[in-house]
Amino acid sequence: MVKRPEKHIIQGFSKLSRSEKLAWLKNQYGLSMKTLNVLDTHLHQDPELQEIYGDLSENTVSNFFLPMGVSPNFLINGDLLTLPMVVEESSVVAAASHAAKFWAAHGGFNAQVSGSSKVGQVHFTWTGDPTDLQRVFQKHREELLQSIKPLTRRMEQRGGGIQSLEIRPTHSALPGQYQLFATFLTANAMGANFINSVLEELGAQLARIMERSPTKGEFGLLMSILSNYTPESLVHCHVEAPVEVFEHVDQGLSALEFARKFQQAVDIALHDPYRAVTHNKGIFNGMDAVILATGNDFRAVEACGHAYASRTGTYQGLSRADVSEGMFRLSLEVPLAVGTVGGLTGVHPVAAASLEIMGNPSAEGLMQIIAAAGLATNFSAIRALVTSGIQRGHMRMHLGNILRQLQATGEESASAARYFAGRTLSHAEVASYLESLRQQNPGE
Ligand code: MEV
Repeated sequence: MVKRPEKHIIQGFSKLSRSEKLAWLKNQYGLSMKTLNVLDTHLHQDPELQEIYGDLSENTVSNFFLPMGVSPNFLINGDLLTLPMVVEESSVVAAASHAAKFWAAHGGFNAQVSGSSKVGQVHFTWTGDPTDLQRVFQKHREELLQSIKPLTRRMEQRGGGIQSLEIRPTHSALPGQYQLFATFLTANAMGANFINSVLEELGAQLARIMERSPTKGEFGLLMSILSNYTPESLVHCHVEAPVEVFEHVDQGLSALEFARKFQQAVDIALHDPYRAVTHNKGIFNGMDAVILATGNDFRAVEACGHAYASRTGTYQGLSRADVSEGMFRLSLEVPLAVGTVGGLTGVHPVAAASLEIMGNPSAEGLMQIIAAAGLATNFSAIRALVTSGIQRGHMRMHLGNILRQLQATGEESASAARYFAGRTLSHAEVASYLESLRQQNPGE
């Protein structure tokens, strides 16, 4: 093992210039010139654009590229769209495109949004009588709402604002712990900054009100933050067709056999969390790719989706399949908090381009698109799993990565692509194929 220089804690790292940061990294971890060069060559050539990307985060020393692909033929509520997708897994865009094309020929994706309400909480403690707390709150509720007008006015003009405000005990296990529970509409924005600003002001105002109230008890403000759990910001999406559309999906299966196997696979994810997590991962493959491409917060959407998947007390798959009376139906219900204005969507030039590719949808339109992307990758995954298996397509898409790792030449890559077409492949098989090629043509 290469001996690394001794490490030491650094103060004020964020104040250093980029080259000072790199010099420190080089010193501390003995980075090679090759690595430093990689970090340099991944900076944007246009300094203005680099400044935008650099400023998205802190301590930026380079950029980390991910491919943005497009997936055409998404027929969603009668509108034919092409979806931008940012993802590193080579088979995701192909899986989405394949399913989109299939379903475009069979009625497309039907998606509806049943609500877009978001939640925020101000957590606090109260040592006095709970009924006094509720009485004081009700008496000053209007005053509280008025106090946040300067923050909510613009959002109200756009059709959003605060929807409800109440005080709730947090949990019987936490006596004396309460929360202001607020719901919001945030128009086309995801609304995190708006909600958090309003909550902080509400918290400060409530503390003032409780301090000047003659009621016996002590009020302690703890924290104000939106909740990323948004079960009331919900989108439903489904595809539906007569079972016979699957007539040629698999050589060995009739259309009905395929549909039944498909449903069986989806049902397993309703009862077995080990399968459900992987099932949902396949849904998030498509959803996250569009969420990333549009500059939305995939961590928030993931956390929310997984909580929703556990709402019955058992972690379950987010999609449902049904085969009855000659019809096949696959549906997905998932909470999504996304925006098409504000946040990164307005700052990241490629996020703006992604939105334009999709015709600049509203936030609700984007929710429908994201759900369709998730249903598409779910459909392709289950279809592959119950027929040929996932590895054939997956590894074919991954072949380019393996060839690159093995430093195959253009000619070797073309020959490997021909050889492995229609064959299931593995890293070892590609390596041994290349070796045999190289033995046949030494010195090339
Ligand atoms: C791979 O990225 C996703 C799958 O594992 C999803 C699934 O198993 O349903 C294929």
